[in-house]
Amino acid sequence: MTMASAGFIFLLLLMVSVSLQNASDAFIQVDCKKENSGQYGQQSVVECVIRKSEEVKDLTVSRVVWKKDGLILLEVHNNQPRSMAGYSFAEPSWNNKSLNVSLLIANTAVANHGNYSCMVMTDSGLDNKSTSLRVTAKYGKPSIHTTAANTTPSSQVTLTCRSQGGHPKGQLSWFEAPNGQLVGNVETAAEVMPNGLFSLSSELTLPSGRDASNYTCVVRNARGGKDDEVTGTIPNAGHVKGLGQDPKAKNTDLATKVVAPLIVIGSMIVGLLFLVFWKKWCKKDWAPQPGTDPEQGSPQHQLLGSPECQETNVSGDAA
Ligand SMILES: *[C@@H]1O[C@H](CO)[C@@H](O)[C@H](O)[C@H]1NC(C)=O
Ligand SMILES: *[C@@H]1O[C@H](CO)[C@@H](O)[C@H](O)[C@H]1NC(C)=O
Ligand SMILES: *[C@@H]1O[C@H](CO)[C@@H](O)[C@H](O)[C@H]1NC(C)=O
Ligand SMILES: *[C@@H]1O[C@H](CO)[C@@H](O)[C@H](O)[C@H]1NC(C)=O
Ligand SMILES: *[C@@H]1O[C@H](CO)[C@@H](O)[C@H](O)[C@H]1NC(C)=O
Ligand SMILES: *[C@@H]1O[C@H](CO)[C@@H](O)[C@H](O)[C@H]1NC(C)=O
Repeated sequence: MTMASAGFIFLLLLMVSVSLQNASDAFIQVDCKKENSGQYGQQSVVECVIRKSEEVKDLTVSRVVWKKDGLILLEVHNNQPRSMAGYSFAEPSWNNKSLNVSLLIANTAVANHGNYSCMVMTDSGLDNKSTSLRVTAKYGKPSIHTTAANTTPSSQVTLTCRSQGGHPKGQLSWFEAPNGQLVGNVETAAEVMPNGLFSLSSELTLPSGRDASNYTCVVRNARGGKDDEVTGTIPNAGHVKGLGQDPKAKNTDLATKVVAPLIVIGSMIVGLLFLVFWKKWCKKDWAPQPGTDPEQGSPQHQLLGSPECQETNVSGDAA
């Protein structure tokens, strides 16, 4: 009986102490901004503050640990703050009475993108919370390059648009200018540069018979907002619609009209001369041979290239 009641009292005390411990934990709470955002190359703040309940009159912070990916970035231990280079408390004169334990990142890099944990220990309890930092960088003005310096109305043209220096991964899109018609089904290729920022490129292949002469390339960030745009003109695009005559194309036409017959006539002359000389050679080699069928000596046969003639020719050359 006494053993049972003693045990009961012990259990009760234990429960009270545990619940008291939980209660004391609830005296303080770390409140973090759910999602922090930072600009590449600028200062960022990951915001966390200590909230204390009304019962707590005076609060002293004994320990703070800021971590990312298991790495300690900033720590207060034995009243001594220590940090990795580039990290500090956002409050310039932070001390053990300061409730704002926000982390300041001096020069935001892509590597700072991600999840952080902030653990706080005080004389009135402890708490540990997680929060995230989203690092963004604006994409630079895109540039458009064409495959060829000059195009004829019948040629295919490929326009390449590039934009870099943004984060996270963005998107390029093409529009016909000036009517603003979206050109569909053009993929964006993304590459990660050494600094972690993205380099985007997109190739637009235009068939012959296209109807626009100017094309706009728009770069959008990961959230779909327009960062920048550029408009490019297809070289000689004025002639694409067949509105004007391309002087270069005219010259080419003239050249084909003159050069092509010349080549045909020239090759015919060369061919005839060759045949005449060949005929003479064959005759010369063949004539002294005695007892030959006179029919074999007919010009018709020689023009077609008789095997006998070729054989004598080859042996004559070798001699
Ligand atoms: C103490 O708090 C934790 C969560 O914060 C809860 O899971 C646990 O049940 C609590 N213990 C008691 C005895 O209330
Ligand atoms: C808090 O800071 C004050 C002054 O820097 C120091 O005297 C005190 O010991 C600190 N308290 C604790 C618990 O570290
Ligand atoms: C904490 O301090 C930083 C730097 O002074 C400030 O930017 C931030 O707004 C503060 N947070 C709160 C919740 O007061
Ligand atoms: C951060 O944590 C959340 C879950 O809490 C997870 O979904 C997300 O992928 C994490 N982000 C990074 C960059 O690790
Ligand atoms: C706080 O919790 C996170 C997980 O949410 C953990 O990674 C981290 O180590 C904890 N911090 C401390 C100081 O225990
Ligand atoms: C295309 O752009 C050029 C130069 O920017 C401009 O002179 C021309 O009028 C534009 N053409 C059309 C059809 O918008």
